[in-house]
Amino acid sequence: MSARVVLVTGGAGFIGSNLVRALLRKGDRVRVLDNFSTGSRENLAPLLGDVEVVEGDLRSYERVHAAVRGTEVVFHQGALPSVPRSVQDPLTTTAVNIEGTLNVLLAARDEHVGRVVNASSSSVYGNSGVLPRTEDQSPDPISPYAVAKLAAERFCTSFSRVYAMETVSLRYFNVFGPLQDPNSQYAAVVPRFIRLIADGRPVTVHGDGEQSRDFTFVDNVVEANLLAAEAPGVNGMSLNIATGVSETINRATDLIGEMVGLPAERVFVDAQPADVRASLADISEARRMLGYSPAVPFAEGLRRTIDNILRDG
Ligand SMILES: NC(=O)c1ccc[n+]([C@@H]2O[C@H](COP(=O)([O-])OP(=O)(O)OC[C@H]3O[C@@H](n4cnc5c(N)ncnc54)[C@H](O)[C@@H]3O)[C@@H](O)[C@H]2O)c1
Repeated sequence: MSARVVLVTGGAGFIGSNLVRALLRKGDRVRVLDNFSTGSRENLAPLLGDVEVVEGDLRSYERVHAAVRGTEVVFHQGALPSVPRSVQDPLTTTAVNIEGTLNVLLAARDEHVGRVVNASSSSVYGNSGVLPRTEDQSPDPISPYAVAKLAAERFCTSFSRVYAMETVSLRYFNVFGPLQDPNSQYAAVVPRFIRLIADGRPVTVHGDGEQSRDFTFVDNVVEANLLAAEAPGVNGMSLNIATGVSETINRATDLIGEMVGLPAERVFVDAQPADVRASLADISEARRMLGYSPAVPFAEGLRRTIDNILRDG
């Protein structure tokens, strides 16, 4: 039997490049579509002989179509992430995250791709409703980013109803791990705090630091994608992918300080607009539908991430 051909959009990014590694280990033939805007060539550098790279923009149907042609599964990870970026520039976030997803879906329909696995986000839940989040709660997105991710999800479900194609969306909750950029202006909390604390610099905490997150190690998210590509009975669904445990920013900062072995000094500044106060997932639907189980708990993931960031300098 010949190897399965798969496409990872955003394969040069943090989650995408971790997923590419796992797919190659499984024996798949992997193609990546990326424009290297927030992802980096270094994330793929060790794999270049093994991966076919299509450089292009998700906003171009022609480029997306070229990348999708001949693939059996599309893992759609490409997007402009970051809530603050979307507050700064809602138009570009919307164009990439909605129009880009539509191009992926149209090309997948036109090329008779078996299934599109779409990266969605816990941000679609917003602040209303109760914790833990279950998929049957009404979404209430706050930021332009969250609105765009919800629209993309809804297009996936629509396409699975209207056309002969399968989609499933995975709502990731605060993913962290190796290959995540600690330095960009919009860097996520975990890698940014590890870098700063290791450098003996204070971290900036928005609000009182008591906002909570269901931090999820990237290997768990990668495993969920592998399962979602093959699980029966998930067409059109959206599933929470998380650890199912929440930590406050203060507690996560303390833990990073303890593990790095340096004091975690913090400077408190105003809360960010569009920041969600509390986040925690109920993951029983993903357990039931995908057989998903988060194998790496928060503390173990943190240890591996710190080792990785400190080793790379
Ligand atoms: N990291 C998280 O905590 C998290 C949480 C929820 C959802 N997500 C979603 O997971 C996916 C991956 O996120 P990530 O954290 O790996 O981010 P990332 O920025 O590292 O990866 C995104 C990738 O998409 C590429 N990209 C951006 N715009 C593009 C365009 N116009 N054309 C082609 N490629 C483009 C980037 O270059 C990058 O390689 C995204 O869809 C994001 O919305 C991430």
